[in-house]
Amino acid sequence: MSKEFKRYLVTSALPYANGPVHIGHLAGVYIPSDIYTRYLRLRGRDVVSVCGSDEHGVPITIKARKEGVTPQEIVDRYHRIIKDSFERLGMSFDIYSRTSSPTHAVTASDFFRKLYDEGKFIEKSSMQYYDEEAGTFLADRYIVGTCPKCGNDRAYGDQCEKCGSTLSPEELVDPHSAVSGSVPVLRETKHWYLPLDQYETFLREWILDGHKEWKTNVYGQCKSWLDGGLQPRAVSRDLDWGIPVPVEGAEGKVLYVWFDAPIGYISATKDFTPDWEKYWKSEDTKMVHFIGKDNIVFHCIVFPSMLKAHGDYILPENVPSNEFLNLEGDKISTSRNWAVWLHEYLDEFPGKEDVLRYVLCANAPETKDNDFTWKDFQARNNNELVAVLGNFVNRALVLTQKYFGGIVPACGGLNDYDRETIAEVAAVKGSLEKNIENYHFREALKDAMNIARIGNKYLADTEPWKVVKSDPERVKTILYVALQITANTAVAIEPFMPFSARKILAMLAVDKFDWERLGATDLIPAGHRIGEPALLFEKIEDEVIQRQLDKLEATKAANRAAESVQQAEPQKDAVSFDDFQKMDIRVSTVLAAEKVAKTKKLLKLTVDTGIDRREIVSGIAEYFSPEELVGRQVLVLVNLEPRELKGILSRGMILMAEDADGRLRLLGPGEKTAAGAIVG
Ligand code: MF3
Ligand code: ZN
Repeated sequence: MSKEFKRYLVTSALPYANGPVHIGHLAGVYIPSDIYTRYLRLRGRDVVSVCGSDEHGVPITIKARKEGVTPQEIVDRYHRIIKDSFERLGMSFDIYSRTSSPTHAVTASDFFRKLYDEGKFIEKSSMQYYDEEAGTFLADRYIVGTCPKCGNDRAYGDQCEKCGSTLSPEELVDPHSAVSGSVPVLRETKHWYLPLDQYETFLREWILDGHKEWKTNVYGQCKSWLDGGLQPRAVSRDLDWGIPVPVEGAEGKVLYVWFDAPIGYISATKDFTPDWEKYWKSEDTKMVHFIGKDNIVFHCIVFPSMLKAHGDYILPENVPSNEFLNLEGDKISTSRNWAVWLHEYLDEFPGKEDVLRYVLCANAPETKDNDFTWKDFQARNNNELVAVLGNFVNRALVLTQKYFGGIVPACGGLNDYDRETIAEVAAVKGSLEKNIENYHFREALKDAMNIARIGNKYLADTEPWKVVKSDPERVKTILYVALQITANTAVAIEPFMPFSARKILAMLAVDKFDWERLGATDLIPAGHRIGEPALLFEKIEDEVIQRQLDKLEATKAANRAAESVQQAEPQKDAVSFDDFQKMDIRVSTVLAAEKVAKTKKLLKLTVDTGIDRREIVSGIAEYFSPEELVGRQVLVLVNLEPRELKGILSRGMILMAEDADGRLRLLGPGEKTAAGAIVG
């Protein structure tokens, strides 16, 4: 028997306020946490659900610097976008807070101070890169250099994005500062470390022995961290953005973002209710952290060690984490803009919040990485939401309007098929509960949809539209049963699709039902007048999907263009205008061309420079045949010192563009121009 808890505390990973939220975040963290929370509330449980923006950390300062604004402006902007888009999607957090809140500064400081006072930290000095020009220590991300593994000259001090290697700044060849470009020097700096190695025994017992029920991906990651041996972890940073380390002599140092952010769950709960302590300090509370898989170590190893060191707080009962969601076969990436952004979706698909919630849950990467495709989105909407759920609810309501003027008919005698159907609906409850409580939300959603499926089949099999002619009494029973199934559908889908659930209840003209009534056949009494039927879902046409695919194509093209800019050779040293003026470049016409004997690359061209006719030897034979050159206009540097090549005096140089692959292209005047025209 699992333990009975009196109350629940549900936390959802605090999104970084350095960008908007995308479908990967939703599928991995927020949709599951909202389903779980809504379910608990429907069951009448005492539950608090907290979230908020994670507003500290280096990436926010980098973004601010790039845009020439303050970090505060960045976090204000994204906090607003994220909070607003969550609300529009129907996320039902009790509070959406932020780690720049005053409560949080105090909570995080006090937390650190208690551990500090009780000697729970180690103080250690180490050598770290320092940018003398900018006067700042450099976080790993701020150091750029050549990757020792693949030679990429834009590798970061923590990672090479080209070959995927994890790096430390000392490994970089030619390190330089991303802040000023200068070469950083190593300087000594003092930090506070949480000695995770001292918590190994506790963690092993608590997780490896005590929580074998955790998802395999989570349990497996914990095990491999623990088997690898834990090291002390720095909990402070040299940075001017964050919560100051509340200790004498710690000027210029702030709490490491992964130290302060999880404490944000506590601060958010404090901001929500004065009764916060009963959620954090009582063994009767079941705390569940919903997170992405890149957060596992912080929520299963680091934060629990912090909580343990502190001593006043409970530990999480479970840490459900999903794998990653890809988009159209590629990894979702904020920097490459490869994502479906929540706020954009909400603008482009008004009224279709539940469609996204549905698709992301049905396709959630629960046990392995998964792919979001727009075709699948369309198919699930059209074949499942419209054809099954929407169709069933609509038929039940429309037929009731049509045959009984919107008054729920009395139920006559049930036949075996009615009874079987009712039993099938009733059987869903147990499975649905078990699946949600075990974080199997995909299966749970199937259960909920099953009720609509059963209803849809019931109407298709009983055919009230035919029976009405021969046996109108029977139709009363059929529609009575169908309306009960409709009400059951509304209850079951609420955690997943709250907007549609509300719409169904409104169409039935009833208030909400307790979860415990799921499966009941007396939800809507005979004689009750239902409301006006309206469509729950509408078909999504190909054009709409094509527009989204086009948008992604445009992103791909923009990324390709940006990449080729990145591959370009760095700019050469500056030249004076006078130096430039010394070059005499003329539009010239190719009069004749032939291969230079015994060479592969050389062509001998005769050109009209407007000044004279002359011969030029050019290394373009691999790219152009003599025939295609004759008559073409080119640009010639005419005052280049003459030079003899293969016995031919070459007087000048044909200007060409060479791309990163070494391919040559001729340059011309763009439109026909008299030979001799000066370029400059
Ligand atoms: N901001 C982190 C991320 O997006 C998550 C922080 S979760 C918290 O990966 F526990 F630290 F708050
Ligand atoms: Zn590399």
